[in-house]
Amino acid sequence: MDQARPLPNELDLSAHWIPFTPNRQFKAAPRLLVAAEGMWYRSAEGRQILDASAGLWCVNAGHARAEITRAVERQLATLDFAPGFQMSHPLAFELASRLAAIAPDGLDRIFFTNSGSESVDTALKIALAYHRARGEGQRTRFIGRERGYHGVGFGGMAVGGMVANRRAFGAMLPGVDHLPHTHDLARNAFSKGQPEHGAELADVLERLVNLHGGDTIAAVIVEPVAGSTGVLVPPKGYLERLRAICDAHGILLIFDEVITGYGRLGTAFASQYFSVTPDLMTTAKGLTNGVVPMGAVFVRRFVYDGVMQGPEHVIELFHGYTYSGHPVACAASLATLDIYEREGLFQRAASLAAEWQEAMHSLRGYPHVIDIRNLGLIVGVELKPREDGPGRRGYDLFLECYNTGLYARVAGDTITMSPPLIIESAQIALAVERLGAALRRIR
Ligand SMILES: Cc1ncc(COP(=O)(O)O)c(C=O)c1O
Repeated sequence: MDQARPLPNELDLSAHWIPFTPNRQFKAAPRLLVAAEGMWYRSAEGRQILDASAGLWCVNAGHARAEITRAVERQLATLDFAPGFQMSHPLAFELASRLAAIAPDGLDRIFFTNSGSESVDTALKIALAYHRARGEGQRTRFIGRERGYHGVGFGGMAVGGMVANRRAFGAMLPGVDHLPHTHDLARNAFSKGQPEHGAELADVLERLVNLHGGDTIAAVIVEPVAGSTGVLVPPKGYLERLRAICDAHGILLIFDEVITGYGRLGTAFASQYFSVTPDLMTTAKGLTNGVVPMGAVFVRRFVYDGVMQGPEHVIELFHGYTYSGHPVACAASLATLDIYEREGLFQRAASLAAEWQEAMHSLRGYPHVIDIRNLGLIVGVELKPREDGPGRRGYDLFLECYNTGLYARVAGDTITMSPPLIIESAQIALAVERLGAALRRIR
């Protein structure tokens, strides 16, 4: 028999070191979720909370999907683990083929990981290995972007552009430089969709090429839409210019689609939405609907072929994880892709995007709101910071929303939402109503 579990209010909270959370503040007033279904979470106090953020931008098909549960159960009972080194199992190949079929043009070689952070570090390593295999081992630099988030591995942290995520952790990777971020309130506040101004910020890449030498740069990595620093939508023409400059200098372009992948913009991947194709693409989150940890790096054929060098008995890429292509994760992902396809969820996101945009922009003019920015089923609502410090008003709004039945995310003074793609019109209206009411209540 299972051991009896303590009730939520009887828990000892001291042992668990909670990630990306002020532990002492949280443990004084914890927010515990105990169940989820469809668009809703249930809290330990029994409150229903609208999940307007798909968990952490990952539960794209909504919570507790029976097909995924069944697939996971079946897989656990059939083949719970298979070694992925010098061995494999059929589902890993089936899943890779399914992913290749929905991938942007030519990105049809897939490397499995367990998270977004691992996908990013894997993509950076593949970029280095590719250049080295073709005799350009001097290309060791990476270019990231200010306000970028690429997870928490040493590689992703180094190319990321969030000071709080970097400050405590030493020198990181050498040879990394950053593009400027594209956030421009003065020119672009309250843009609907892609902002008009800022494509020229991509030209800074030319300056970095001149500074470092283009032939020392292995790859540029950006999120097509930056999520974690408060939803930064790329200005019109910006990604196209990055692509052109990378091409001119033999630099690989990596799109980090950990958030934008699997339908968030109404296409399978953001690169299809923008018609800009990277050379590598990092994904995770929506790959399994968030239910089992898994990531996938999509690689253009020429990069894969470039690494497949040397004698055939020698490992081409000395890289991989014990759980790369884990059978249970593969089963969850295949069932997730089935749901996306059968229910047309990517198209559904596309068809809801205009309604989402208008609903969110109706909050313009509410107290404290200095910007609203959106694309696909994503929104960022930025507040004027309060005098007592940046982030305080944003946190108060997050808390007020949570306490009144709306789960949204907060990044500094920006509230972000990115709901499951199954969201209905009435729930979009409810999210706006609750956010609007919370804005009126906070100071
Ligand atoms: C763009 C991007 N890259 C990487 C990551 C890291 O993913 P994980 O937390 O699964 O390691 C995230 C997580 O939010 C992300 O948004």
